[in-house]
Amino acid sequence: MSLIVGRVWPRHRRRWQSAHIVRSRMNIRPAVESEAAALSVLVMRAKAHWKYSTEALEQWRSELAVSPANVRERPTFVAVVGAEIVGFYSLRTSRLAWELDNLWVLPKFMRQGIGRALLRHALATAARGGANEITVDADPNAESFYLACGAIRRGEVPAPIPGQPDRVRPQLAFVQPNNALESDRAS
Ligand SMILES: CC(C)(COP(=O)(O)OP(=O)(O)OC[C@H]1O[C@@H](n2cnc3c(N)ncnc32)[C@H](O)[C@@H]1OP(=O)(O)O)[C@@H](O)C(=O)NCCC(=O)NCCS
Repeated sequence: MSLIVGRVWPRHRRRWQSAHIVRSRMNIRPAVESEAAALSVLVMRAKAHWKYSTEALEQWRSELAVSPANVRERPTFVAVVGAEIVGFYSLRTSRLAWELDNLWVLPKFMRQGIGRALLRHALATAARGGANEITVDADPNAESFYLACGAIRRGEVPAPIPGQPDRVRPQLAFVQPNNALESDRAS
């Protein structure tokens, strides 16, 4: 028994320490147009983390690509560790309900708090811009992340792909972004 505890606890502590080190070295800054191609590559690497088939990934490639115009026209922020872009988000603005249209973290940096940090930054950006809610048309695999960060589930839309006829995309929202930030902080 003590052997099991002795093996599990240090590993957990090491994971916590390395996540803490990564977060303390991470900065979030506005993206620049010349980074659009690199962001498109990052999107595909992050999406592939969910083990979709090559065919499915190729079908999404153009729809998920980030253009220089996207970066210019939408609030787009990157998380950087050292010189490396490890994640980013972008928002589609509107009068009241804004949409989080991108949120991606490189697989080797996942589960270290970077997604949560980017999301909090996005909620703060939207709240400052006057949004009263942020919607997310989510990948089903990312739903647990959003719910852990304070999202509510409004519904789902069918999104079948070969081999997954019942696949759906959860429709999520952060209502009153400032309040969502507060309740996330409290949890
Ligand atoms: C979803 C995503 C952005 C999360 O980023 P991340 O940096 O790994 O998330 P965090 O480390 O900040 O996680 C915060 C909390 O969310 C939850 N969470 C994160 N990833 C999770 C997962 N795969 N399964 C279940 N819960 C998860 C956990 O509660 C986690 O806290 P913990 O690590 O202390 O347990 C990232 O996994 C990703 O880029 N995925 C692929 C692309 C994608 O689907 N993006 C969303 C498009 S809608």
